Amino acid sequence: MDIFTIDELRKTFTNGEMKEEILKGISLTLKEGEITALVGPSGSGKSTLLTIAAGLQPASDGKILFNDNNITSMTAEQVRDIRAKKFGFVFQFAHLVPFLTVREQLSFMLDVSEVKMKNEKREQEIDYILERVGLSERKHAYPSSLSGGEKQRVAIARAVIHKPRVLFADEPTASLDSKKSKEIMSLIQDLTKTLNLTTLMVTHDEEMLSYVDHVVKMSDGLVV
Ligand SMILES: Nc1ncnc2c1ncn2[C@@H]1O[C@H](COP(=O)(O)OP(=O)(O)O)[C@@H](O)[C@H]1O
Ligand SMILES: [Mg+2]
Repeated sequence: MDIFTIDELRKTFTNGEMKEEILKGISLTLKEGEITALVGPSGSGKSTLLTIAAGLQPASDGKILFNDNNITSMTAEQVRDIRAKKFGFVFQFAHLVPFLTVREQLSFMLDVSEVKMKNEKREQEIDYILERVGLSERKHAYPSSLSGGEKQRVAIARAVIHKPRVLFADEPTASLDSKKSKEIMSLIQDLTKTLNLTTLMVTHDEEMLSYVDHVVKMSDGLVV
């Protein structure tokens, strides 16, 4: 089933008198249970496309359809609600809260997403996702005691703990070595399949492409 469609998306940034069109009419369809990778040279508009698709910044023109709802015509509050409940995010760096344990990072995310459940169920969900990302033993650890790969695993657990439908990842392996990068991609692949996520990721690492279902090449604001 197609749940996410980007249709003729355009983005223009204005710097003083200068107008620059960064996205020049991008159309893409993302499928459930599949990973689509955006690749292309630095500055080609990959991150801009991902953040607009995720409702983090507005488009200048075009549509983004999530389950037939057009995100580009929603109110800011409606977009925030979808983003908090239906979308998950992973970036190059884990951006963990230094004074929260692994468990607390996940519990906090459930609060932010307004996922309401009894304490016992909450702990079960946290334990389940920690097992899925291979961090059961690190539940009560603080970020400072985790390796780079472990931190990124926590970031991935945090991105999916609230059971989003769409996972957005911008260069999730860019700060890791080749072996750790492959482990993280393998994890994203596994979660995409088993949680039936629709995953859109940006990468510049050719080695990661064997883990994805579709590759979309961008150049100068266009799909090529
Ligand atoms: N808020 C902004 N204002 C002006 N220009 C921007 C802004 N965000 C991105 N750009 C420009 O858009 C282009 C594409 O950036 P980006 O989407 O980050 O590319 P990529 O992720 O492919 O490296 C770059 O030239 C960048 O400088
Ligand atoms: Mg980028």
